[in-house]
Amino acid sequence: MWGGRFAAGPDAVMQAINASIDFDQRLWREDLAGSRAHCRMLADQAIISAADRDAILGGLDQIEAELEAGDFTFDPALEDIHMHVEARLREIIGPAAGRLHTARSRNDQVATDFKLWVRNAIDSIDGQLAAFQTALLAQAEAHLETIMPGFTHLQTAQPVTLAHHLMAYWEMARRDRGRFADARARLNECPLGAGALAGTSFAIDRAATAAALDFDKPTDNSLDSVSDRDFALEFLSAASICALHLSRLAEELVIFASQPFGFVTLSDRFSTGSSMMPQKRNPDAAELTRAKVGRILGAFQALSIVMKGLPLTYSKDCQEEKEPVFDATDSLSLAIAAMSGIMEDLKFRPEPLRAHAAAGFSTATDLADWLVQALGLPFRDAHHVTGAIVKLAEDKGCGLEDLSLAEMQSVHSDITQDVFTRLGVDNSVASRTSHGGTSPTNVAAQIKAAKAVMGLE
Ligand code: ARG
Repeated sequence: MWGGRFAAGPDAVMQAINASIDFDQRLWREDLAGSRAHCRMLADQAIISAADRDAILGGLDQIEAELEAGDFTFDPALEDIHMHVEARLREIIGPAAGRLHTARSRNDQVATDFKLWVRNAIDSIDGQLAAFQTALLAQAEAHLETIMPGFTHLQTAQPVTLAHHLMAYWEMARRDRGRFADARARLNECPLGAGALAGTSFAIDRAATAAALDFDKPTDNSLDSVSDRDFALEFLSAASICALHLSRLAEELVIFASQPFGFVTLSDRFSTGSSMMPQKRNPDAAELTRAKVGRILGAFQALSIVMKGLPLTYSKDCQEEKEPVFDATDSLSLAIAAMSGIMEDLKFRPEPLRAHAAAGFSTATDLADWLVQALGLPFRDAHHVTGAIVKLAEDKGCGLEDLSLAEMQSVHSDITQDVFTRLGVDNSVASRTSHGGTSPTNVAAQIKAAKAVMGLE
């Protein structure tokens, strides 16, 4: 490729540290797409002849077929996917292959290929997240009336509906999709034609190549074009936050599936057994999803550190962009698939969920609210009166709703029978009708709105 001024070939170590073909072969589809767009544009601008264009496009078709069929030979001496394609093109069509690289450098080529790859990754992750949201919606619809403990500090706090809890994850996924969409919109400017760094003296049409590759426009600064990797960082940052959300759900499932909780049963499809303990049903997929955030966030750090302090424009450091992005994409894709599958199959156990929802005087706030609303007590006083009633129930070893009216009145004489309409988990949940609150009517409306946003039904 640059043999003109070199007398000796590279040392084996030089070749080993320099080569990216082992991993950047994943860019072959994007590389061919970029080359086709560039080739057509060169002919349209009369920079190469129509005959050369046709020969090049024919050769690229053959290379595509070879790559698709898995009978393309990779050679570590040819550093990267770009050189592989060009070298094979020369074998197939002869010297005309050399015209494809007119007005192009591997610097703008790799930036273009990688942007296309990340854009495809975003689209596929978005589709997976939509499927995950659909699985959450199906479970939420089935559990509109199922009561579970709502936690703060992992202490039973107030009863909520299971549908409401699941829809919290739907919201996280909605924001994740928004972050990926933002990254995609900012990414969508085409670096092709920036050349090595400074542009080119050939009369190329960058708007045409940008349009052919479904970019909104060409990038406006050639120096920035070849050195910018923000799009990969933004993708990894959105991926990290998404993975972090999945890890929270995964953690809950690990806890909820454990024997002391017994809130859920994982399906056979998403459990593993133990080689020693025949009774075990382990939540490995959830545990691994919980762990994946480590490598995905690690990828963001790795690429940030590669890019930190790099002078303009392209430096070979940029080649190190790819492995973290590939690994993070594979990990995230697997984690979303696992959580979608687990969610589709998951069996919730309404009885223990309900029993724990009622534990620990979880409707004490409802009692305090009633004292404020029905008797006009200041909330601080109501809190105090409620505390005394909780103490009474605790001493008796019963729930608040199991106390008699007389017992309640022994703490505050104005309390009436009406208080019992607020106690008990069903009454508590039904009363929380403020916007975003847990009442089944609210959550049913949230689910309906979510389905409309997703174009379901
Ligand atoms: N394999 C290189 C990469 O992935 C391609 C660009 C090489 N450019 C260069 N001037 N050496 O970044």
